[in-house]
Amino acid sequence: MRELKVGIIGAGIWGANHARVFNTLLQTRLVAVCDIAPERANAFKEQSGCAAAYSDFNELIADPEVEAISVATPDFTHAPIILAALKANKHVLCEKPLAMTLEETEEVAKAAAQSSGKLMVDFHNRVNPAIVQLRDAVAAGEIGNAVHGYARLSNTTYVPLEMLSWAAKSSALWFLGSHVVDALRFVLNDEVVRVYSVARSGVLKARGVDTQDVHISTLEFSKGAVITLENSWILSTANPIAYDFKIELVGDKGQINANPSHNGAVTKLTSQGAKFADLLGITPTGPSRIGGFVLEAIAQFVDAVLDEAPLLADAKDGLAVTRVLAAIEQSAAQGTPVRLCF
Ligand SMILES: NC(=O)c1ccc[n+]([C@@H]2O[C@H](COP(=O)([O-])OP(=O)(O)OC[C@H]3O[C@@H](n4cnc5c(N)ncnc54)[C@H](O)[C@@H]3O)[C@@H](O)[C@H]2O)c1
Repeated sequence: MRELKVGIIGAGIWGANHARVFNTLLQTRLVAVCDIAPERANAFKEQSGCAAAYSDFNELIADPEVEAISVATPDFTHAPIILAALKANKHVLCEKPLAMTLEETEEVAKAAAQSSGKLMVDFHNRVNPAIVQLRDAVAAGEIGNAVHGYARLSNTTYVPLEMLSWAAKSSALWFLGSHVVDALRFVLNDEVVRVYSVARSGVLKARGVDTQDVHISTLEFSKGAVITLENSWILSTANPIAYDFKIELVGDKGQINANPSHNGAVTKLTSQGAKFADLLGITPTGPSRIGGFVLEAIAQFVDAVLDEAPLLADAKDGLAVTRVLAAIEQSAAQGTPVRLCF
């Protein structure tokens, strides 16, 4: 079996999940890690058992042992890292969003087309069983033509106030909306042609994180579906899980609703109240091994690199999503609808 040697840039919460996946998959070996915080890179190296730790991403990219690179750094830092890795013709798996400005994302897409390295965006909801059910039902014509719908991916205040040190440089729109816009494109097999959005700020700002509380957006797709999208970072921490994810689609022949926030298999009732565990995305299968759609998406990147299997989501998908999110921000800022051209 051919082995893929991997390096991870960004030794934080999500980089740790990438490491668990690479340590679970038989075809991958984690060989290097990089974090601008050297103590974090060193601790990660010890925990994951990889050979090298760096604090400059250029050093990891130049390491001849590293064939493929996971980019798991904060949202606003992705572009220069991906550009350097693609220039060195390394394969890249990047966390969502691909980049946070249209200019940067276009540059990345151009670099991906010129590199012999492959680029995949980790839009793992494409292998989330609940979202795949939606896609299959729509493709089979079970609801007829999608007419309207509602999509919500929002977090409790735990995420911007306690989990992410860099929340002020992102927003629920970029951190969460990137997942849902891609999932809707995937489910409807369609592109967004017009958006109108209203944002509200103040709750997070009053607590020291200067970013929007919520974007409520209307997305019109080219085949006619109109979807209301909510991305909030101020849900109550009393919720049973730190995120709430719902997609409901109404067609001219039927309706389909998905609630992938939790699969209801485990409810913990303690002094913290009722709490659900995520068993769909990260399914614990052993002390350092995981299954679930987080693993499945990364496994598809490995299959694409080693066996020429199709990428789950490529630079074009990353660019399409950034276009929609940038248009939503523009609409919220100017108070008028924004039309997109493809
Ligand atoms: N797919 C998902 O469901 C999911 C969930 C959580 C986070 N994410 C994404 O993963 C990425 C990382 O998020 P996180 O929650 O792990 O954040 P985090 O803050 O826990 O970790 C980020 C790490 O990157 C390091 N870093 C920052 N700039 C760097 C640079 N230039 N070079 C090297 N290291 C650098 C930081 O020191 C930190 O250790 C984000 O893009 C986020 O949107 C995806």
